[in-house]
Amino acid sequence: ATPTASDLKALVRAVPDFPATGILFRDVTTLMSDGAGLAGAIDALAALAADLSVDAVAGIEARGFIFGAALAQRLGTGFIPLRKAGKLPVPAMAEDYALEYGEARLELDPTIIRAGQSVLLLDDLLATGGTALAAARLLRRAGAHCTHALFVIDLPDLGGMTALSEQGIEGRAVMA
Ligand code: PRP
Ligand code: HPA
Repeated sequence: ATPTASDLKALVRAVPDFPATGILFRDVTTLMSDGAGLAGAIDALAALAADLSVDAVAGIEARGFIFGAALAQRLGTGFIPLRKAGKLPVPAMAEDYALEYGEARLELDPTIIRAGQSVLLLDDLLATGGTALAAARLLRRAGAHCTHALFVIDLPDLGGMTALSEQGIEGRAVMA
């Protein structure tokens, strides 16, 4: 049977005090390692994208690669990897951002973007939105249209959806 949203939510493990005291970490490992869970998550993401015109899916390293590549294949588009710092073998554009816990940098090879193509952003989880906003800045600097972002999980208390909408991005999530 097709898993419901609440079945999918039950497959996400909540780990207290990782990576720092006081943070309840939503771990999608237990969702993606379950066959029905992975298929159900990709089905739900594809449903959230059904009314969108998508030329490519861009996923954020690392967990956004897993869901993003599967969604791109489902939608019949290519996949654009947004990488953490220092991984690309070619000159890259970079954007720094603040996380719920710490700082990081995303990098993109701009030569893989075609000017004006509509790129759907994808990540496993939305918290403050800092990561997704850095990703959108990179895609836009490289010439893409980026107006929508999909997530498996939204943590609504951290305000990510509002932060995205302030930058012209409509976020949608499979579960909150
Ligand atoms: C997590 C998650 C998102 C980001 C969300 O990744 O996968 O990318 O945090 O947080 P934000 O909305 O506050 O920016 P993390 O930085 O833990 O990296 P990882 O995927 O390499 O573990
Ligand atoms: N899980 C995974 N990534 C995260 C979380 C979380 O709870 N919070 C911020 N990034």
